[in-house]
Amino acid sequence: MDIQQIFANNRKWIETKLSADVDYFKKLAEGQNPRILYIGCSDSRVTAEELMGVQPGEVFVHRNIANMVPANDLNSLSVLSYAVTYLKVDHIVVCGHYNCGGIKSAMIQQDFGILNPWLRAIRDVYHIHHDELELITDEEQKYRRFVELNVQEQCINIIKTPDAQRAIVKRNVTLHGWVWDIHTGELIDLKIDFHTMLQKIMEIYRIV
Ligand code: CO
Repeated sequence: MDIQQIFANNRKWIETKLSADVDYFKKLAEGQNPRILYIGCSDSRVTAEELMGVQPGEVFVHRNIANMVPANDLNSLSVLSYAVTYLKVDHIVVCGHYNCGGIKSAMIQQDFGILNPWLRAIRDVYHIHHDELELITDEEQKYRRFVELNVQEQCINIIKTPDAQRAIVKRNVTLHGWVWDIHTGELIDLKIDFHTMLQKIMEIYRIV
């Protein structure tokens, strides 16, 4: 790709926005009030805003390899904290996707260098759900299920933080586990029962 094309695209985009509303950027600069925090994968094919059909200002977005929220990752935890404490979002979404390279890498026995600690957190998900995953003989099905279970575990990681606990208990913030099907474009709600999960988790992890 010609990198100069990006700037040409940008100028065209500004024109389009201004032709629909001359005050578009003036309004945008006034501040943000997103109602949703979206944590998704960095994969170039999984374009958060585009697949959700949302506009600038509507969703606070964090993306990393395999939509992770590891206990020691200041980046995702800071995004989460800022979103629930200051932006006061109403919804927290973790969105995985089928054919995720990060998940695939965690299924391969290989030394990935600097990526090892990140992949380790994904491998830990496999470890937790080892019994269920090992029962799946079809490799493609196993891969898909691993993607889904990783979404579930990252939601659990979110529930383990005091900021999320406060937001869920005091402000009724809702947590959603989604998967985007790269083969069809469909966004799927995994309908994870967070209410039951929260109660179980809180027995051990209640902080606030
Ligand atoms: Co991915």
